[in-house]
Amino acid sequence: MKVGILGAGTMGAGIAQVAAQSGHKVVLVDVNASAIETAKIKLHRIAERLIEKGKWTQDFGDALFGRITFSTDLNDFEGAGLVIEAIVENIEIKHAVFSKLEAIVDQDCILASNTSSLSIAAIGSVLKSPHRVLGIHFFNPAPLMPLVEIIPAVQTNESVVKTARTLIDSWDKVTVLAKDTPGFIVNRVARPFYGEALRIYEEGIADFATIDWAMTQLGGFRMGPFTLMDYIGNDINYTVTETVFEAFYYDPRYKPSFTQKRHAEAGYLGRKSGRGYYDYAENAVNPKA
Ligand code: NAI
Repeated sequence: MKVGILGAGTMGAGIAQVAAQSGHKVVLVDVNASAIETAKIKLHRIAERLIEKGKWTQDFGDALFGRITFSTDLNDFEGAGLVIEAIVENIEIKHAVFSKLEAIVDQDCILASNTSSLSIAAIGSVLKSPHRVLGIHFFNPAPLMPLVEIIPAVQTNESVVKTARTLIDSWDKVTVLAKDTPGFIVNRVARPFYGEALRIYEEGIADFATIDWAMTQLGGFRMGPFTLMDYIGNDINYTVTETVFEAFYYDPRYKPSFTQKRHAEAGYLGRKSGRGYYDYAENAVNPKA
């Protein structure tokens, strides 16, 4: 089956790798040609590293790249059995994209969103056949994280859920069904993790590095909240918090933080922009706990 991935950023590139690793022909599309170039370079670097480590053979890597088409043209999704959208977390932009997609793909193509926080029912509302929409939510980095949330909307056909779940399970992932509620399971649990860490910082109790140190060295977490936010991207993470806060009728438990907002506004997006709460420049000196 041909699989389309829309958006070649942090998530889209990783999901494309996962689908191609599972033997699918993959078309990776982004409006931005430089995002496509970056994704190509990133995937080649990953392949080189895995071949060097002996985890992939050269032939496996070559065959994998032979299956991925990089494009800026949505029409290349024609003939796909599944398209997964992983573009900016904005409902208007997602609506515009899903309407365009429906005009290109076949009637039986499943249309999925990798959204972290938007309503799948709302995304599907612009479709003529909303029964084929659902959320397929990967975690970052998609090739390494086994969990994938499968989120049917109220409009989704049972058979679409079954097909999508069977397919993603066959990609060596562990799927879990989640209800179409703000943040689904993991992002809802994660909001207070980031939010409380930001509040502790804002109240002057501890700095980023100390909070991260405490959570990893004493709390047993693999990454501290600030390291993790830098990994996810402060723009995306802030938007997800804003969406969840609004969707829960402004429940203060999910209140977004000005510190994160200012970091996103300043372009301190995290690893992807070279600077977030920490500096990722080659010789950068970061605060220690
Ligand atoms: P990103 O900012 O790294 O990449 C988004 C890409 O979409 C960019 O390359 C951009 O050029 C492209 N794009 C924007 N508008 C477009 C359009 N109209 N058509 C085609 N391409 C377009 O974002 P990221 O982090 O990959 O997030 C994408 C989606 O995945 C969001 O819905 C986010 O909530 C979700 N997500 C993000 C995770 C993360 O850790 N970053 C984890 C799981 C889900």
